[in-house]
Amino acid sequence: MSLPQANDAATVTARVRTLNRDDALARRDTLIPELVRHNRLYHTDDAAEITDREYDLLYRELELIEDRFPDLVLPDSPTHRVGDATVDGLMPFVHAQPMLSLGNAFSEEDLRDYDIRLRKRLADQCPPVIPYIVEPKLDGLAMELVYEDGVLVGAGTRGDGERGEDVLHNVQTIRAIPSRLATATPPSRVDIRGEVLFDVAGFHRMNETRVARGDKAFENPRNAAAGTIRQLDPSVTARRPLTFMAHSFGASEGVDLPESHHEQLALVHSWGMPINALNTVCDGIDAVIEAIAMIGAARGDMATEIDGAVVKVDDVRLQRELGFVTRSPRWAIAYKYPPEQTTTELEDVGFQVGRTGAITPVAYLKPVRVGGVTVSRASLHNADQLLRLDLRIGSTVVLQRSGDVIPQVVGVVPDDQHDDRPAATYPETCPECDTPLVRDGDAVVIRCPNTLSCPAQLRAAVRHFGSRLAMDIEGLGEKSVEQLIESKLVTRVSDLYALTVDQVESLERMGPKLSELLVANIAKSCAQPLRRVLTALGIPEVGESTARDLASHFGGIDALANASLEDLTAVHGIGDIVAQNIVTWFAAPKHSEEVTRLRELGVQFPEEDAVNDQPTNEAVAGKTFVLTGTLPTMTRGEAKALLLAAGAAVKGSVSKKTDFVVAGADAGSKLEKAHALEVAVIDEDTLRTLLGVA
Ligand code: IVH
Repeated sequence: MSLPQANDAATVTARVRTLNRDDALARRDTLIPELVRHNRLYHTDDAAEITDREYDLLYRELELIEDRFPDLVLPDSPTHRVGDATVDGLMPFVHAQPMLSLGNAFSEEDLRDYDIRLRKRLADQCPPVIPYIVEPKLDGLAMELVYEDGVLVGAGTRGDGERGEDVLHNVQTIRAIPSRLATATPPSRVDIRGEVLFDVAGFHRMNETRVARGDKAFENPRNAAAGTIRQLDPSVTARRPLTFMAHSFGASEGVDLPESHHEQLALVHSWGMPINALNTVCDGIDAVIEAIAMIGAARGDMATEIDGAVVKVDDVRLQRELGFVTRSPRWAIAYKYPPEQTTTELEDVGFQVGRTGAITPVAYLKPVRVGGVTVSRASLHNADQLLRLDLRIGSTVVLQRSGDVIPQVVGVVPDDQHDDRPAATYPETCPECDTPLVRDGDAVVIRCPNTLSCPAQLRAAVRHFGSRLAMDIEGLGEKSVEQLIESKLVTRVSDLYALTVDQVESLERMGPKLSELLVANIAKSCAQPLRRVLTALGIPEVGESTARDLASHFGGIDALANASLEDLTAVHGIGDIVAQNIVTWFAAPKHSEEVTRLRELGVQFPEEDAVNDQPTNEAVAGKTFVLTGTLPTMTRGEAKALLLAAGAAVKGSVSKKTDFVVAGADAGSKLEKAHALEVAVIDEDTLRTLLGVA
């Protein structure tokens, strides 16, 4: 059995081979900012713009350039980092042993080369065939679980590999993860690593509900798992279909783990820890290649997603012998499958108008299964792609899905009737408002310039404004936005704040109760913190995380509106393009007028959270707590989970803004600081009283 050819990876390798040093330098300087940006979009904003495969190939290209021209390797190159960012409000989690990443193989040839490299390195130690284990590469959120004396006491995300985020409060709600290991003789400590995964069917159901409610759909199950685990409210996590599978180990004490990886996994499996049923022990590289093909064939039918296979040396003594390179073990490598493709008939091409007026062609397809889902629509990205593909209605097209929900049309299957079929051509005018379309300079994007009154742009802008990460206006879903715009009650976002109950009630299906609720929810959103208002305004490339950085740097909307390019680029994480977007946005009179009008109608733009996301307990909601020392009956993680669920904020250090320090035994410098700053210090009993828990 052989593995399919990955043409895209081969093209990258060939391209890098032709580069001279100057070209390689120029390419490196384009690739690095691109990788940094996409990394941020993926990890921090949960809003990836390119597929995982495209990211992997950009990364690979940089690796190949660095291999060929070692003097071009920058000390802070993205290839040296493992990299996630952290979320405010989660405490740091320090890994006892760093969580590393894996090198990649894209072809059978890469795998055979890997086997040869290992044999050379092992030299005399090398057995006639290397014992391997092949496992699915689980496409979830990497997690370390810490068990002490068999009890789950810690859970942390990978973060930068050394330090992630403490997410025990959420992990405790995942049923697949035992809170106690099923063994009478547990080790004093064992750190079990694996992936938190989102059930694919549950994922699609959840997205449908989110879209119906006016919330943004998650890109893919991995993002959904990450978003679910890295948010603050454990009751949300508990409602989502998450599971877990173990694949490796960190530190351990008081246990002699078996000397082969598959036996180690079998041992933790016998303690109640889920592992993947397709893990396959293989003697030698030929068997590895067969196992990878077998896992690839089963891929579409799995309940959770995979994005490759991991090949590991099974014998732990050989693993020790092989050791590590900077950021990954030599004894393991990840094989990335080429994206799954299939063919189907192109029934029609439609054109969608986005929030910024960009026109995106959409392919309507004869329904077909690819990558585990049935697909009837696919994105065609932009005008150039449409031209390049020379799509004809009725043609057979090649469809690809690579880890993302939105599949792509990547080619046309040639046939005799191609020229006789009608071509899919771009419209001259906006399909929604008939305004002649424009092309941005020589950019590939074609836009509807009618940003003031194109109903499609307005619909998208209003829905974005009210979405969960922005102003979080419950009840402002797809249907109500459409009605408000159709009735001309809303012709720009600020009109929302001028709506009366009577006006809303005049709309179809809007009874007095619903209307009152919607108007009240809109009014409540006036107090949303600055970072949310900034997200809501829809400034190009200013997502939630950039908005957060801007809000904490500038403190108010006026300071931001008046900021120069230099002021903006001085903010950590803001590059030239985003800075320019911000300056251009505020310079447009219609935007500054809109900001003024929002203020006149009551939107306050406060810096700090003036409303809490889930205020449920008057005594603690909105208050800031710091936890220190060992509490008599609760772990700090449990106390934190209860506080967060009650609407409090929990911070890692004491400041004048801290309302309460909860101190247990052996509390150290935080307690001293609390006394120095005269912050209220309480014990666990008082905390229980405040929380209303026995
Ligand atoms: S073993 C040194 N096995 O892939 C890393 N990792 O690129 C040893 N992953 O974030 C990890 N499935 O969490 C291993 N079967 C598997 C895996 C797996 C997914 C993740 C891992 C890490 C990433 C490494």
